[in-house]
Amino acid sequence: MTAEVARRIAETADLVAVALDQLLPRAQGLEARLTEAMRYAALGGGKRLRPFFAIETGRLFDLDPTSVLRAACAVECVHAYSLVHDDLPAMDDDDLRHGRPTVHKAYDEATAILVGDGLQAAAFEILADPETHPDGRVRADLVLKLAMAAGARGMCGGQMIDLLGVRDDLDAVARMQRLKTGALIAVSFELPMIMAQAEEGEQQALMNFAQDLGLAYQIVDDLLDAEGDGAVLGKKAGKDAEKGKANYVTLLGISEARQRLHLLIAQTKAHLDPFGRRADFLRDSVDFVLDRSN
Ligand code: IPE
Ligand code: IPE
Ligand code: MG
Ligand code: MG
Ligand code: MG
Repeated sequence: MTAEVARRIAETADLVAVALDQLLPRAQGLEARLTEAMRYAALGGGKRLRPFFAIETGRLFDLDPTSVLRAACAVECVHAYSLVHDDLPAMDDDDLRHGRPTVHKAYDEATAILVGDGLQAAAFEILADPETHPDGRVRADLVLKLAMAAGARGMCGGQMIDLLGVRDDLDAVARMQRLKTGALIAVSFELPMIMAQAEEGEQQALMNFAQDLGLAYQIVDDLLDAEGDGAVLGKKAGKDAEKGKANYVTLLGISEARQRLHLLIAQTKAHLDPFGRRADFLRDSVDFVLDRSN
């Protein structure tokens, strides 16, 4: 099953690269610098795990793969934008992402700000297009849910808390992680569920699963920052301690953070119980995704 998870993640990454290449604008003239930089940010690597989650949810509900791929690309555009801004000097001030210079290093800061703006707009353009779903009410709901996940009560809000810093308060750290990372992970499951008009109980179970997975995902990112190898990560390691960032690892230490992660993983998978064997593949994906080295 592990090999099958790896295969499907690789397959998703290829599908997303092709789809984003088609979906992202190409411009001639002076604005070409912006569209090139957007492509640099969105087509230059990344594990594409949010699209993978969306596509696997689509599979769970037998959805049209083309529609789901479009929604998956919309989430990935917001994710790519969040990383471009996260790396800016005013935020984490990072020079390397996906093993290459960050957008503000390869271009300049103003261009990187615009790249984020452009990718965020592209995400909503993709979702609102009738090609994503024939029913306008469904499209409006997709737009609403992605806006909520990206905005002040989601990713941006979490990034604000991260910048302000939370001291010795694990509940506040958990809230920050659920917002800054969990929200975009959760919406990767939520958009296909909206398309499927899934039954309320199943929606709730999968959202609980996705929210815990999002928190676990960020704890793994923080463990990798503390213990990982920059060459494998494609981004600098050791930055969180250096910058005095509060997270499970910097507050609790590596072994306690790891213990909490294990408890959280069990809790995450338990949310899939109502799906029985149907969710076996998702259960295996959790282990694979959280046991990563980059
Ligand atoms: C990095 O996310 C930042 C977090 C929100 C944890 P990913 O590890 O999923 O980013 P990719 O794979 O490089 O796109
Ligand atoms: C980023 O968290 C979360 C975002 C919303 C982009 P980090 O700052 O820990 O992500 P990396 O380690 O730079 O990828
Ligand atoms: Mg950050
Ligand atoms: Mg960062
Ligand atoms: Mg990190």
